[in-house]
Amino acid sequence: MVRVVAMPTDTNAAGDIFGGWVAAHMDLAASTTAEDRAGCKCATVAVDGLVFHRPMTVGDELNVYTRILRIGRTSMTIEVEAVRRVRRTTTRQKVTQGRFTFVALDDNGQPRAVDAPPAA
Ligand SMILES: CC(C)(COP(=O)(O)OP(=O)(O)OC[C@H]1O[C@@H](n2cnc3c(N)ncnc32)[C@H](O)[C@@H]1OP(=O)(O)O)[C@@H](O)C(=O)NCCC(=O)NCCS
Repeated sequence: MVRVVAMPTDTNAAGDIFGGWVAAHMDLAASTTAEDRAGCKCATVAVDGLVFHRPMTVGDELNVYTRILRIGRTSMTIEVEAVRRVRRTTTRQKVTQGRFTFVALDDNGQPRAVDAPPAA
């Protein structure tokens, strides 16, 4: 899980929070979930179904939640939901969702089995 407050430096030219900022925190949260599960470095190989439902504004708190959807041989797909909590309120709204796929990597940066024993 990632929780962070959107700041003025995170805005786009229109004054809303930049979608890439939200997506970056989703990638970060999902990578933590993937690396915890595989016990090794993991790389994002694909992002599918990324949908921006609502904008965020400065001062909103971004909360990112993850759930492992699928574990393949070397890859894992993580469902990611980003929820805004409007500044100084209890109002929460889903802003973005997507499926992030990660590949577990060995020390040479090559795909390795998710359930491979840790390197000695
Ligand atoms: C990740 C990487 C090492 C995988 O190499 P690769 O040659 O594609 O590996 P493979 O073809 O053996 O595929 C590995 C796994 O990824 C899956 N995969 C590959 N491309 C995919 C895609 N577009 N969507 C979903 N899964 C994909 C494969 O199905 C396979 O999964 P499985 O073993 O569970 O069946 C390589 O693509 C890479 O280095 N990409 C850049 C990663 C990066 O820089 N990410 C951003 C920063 S983290």
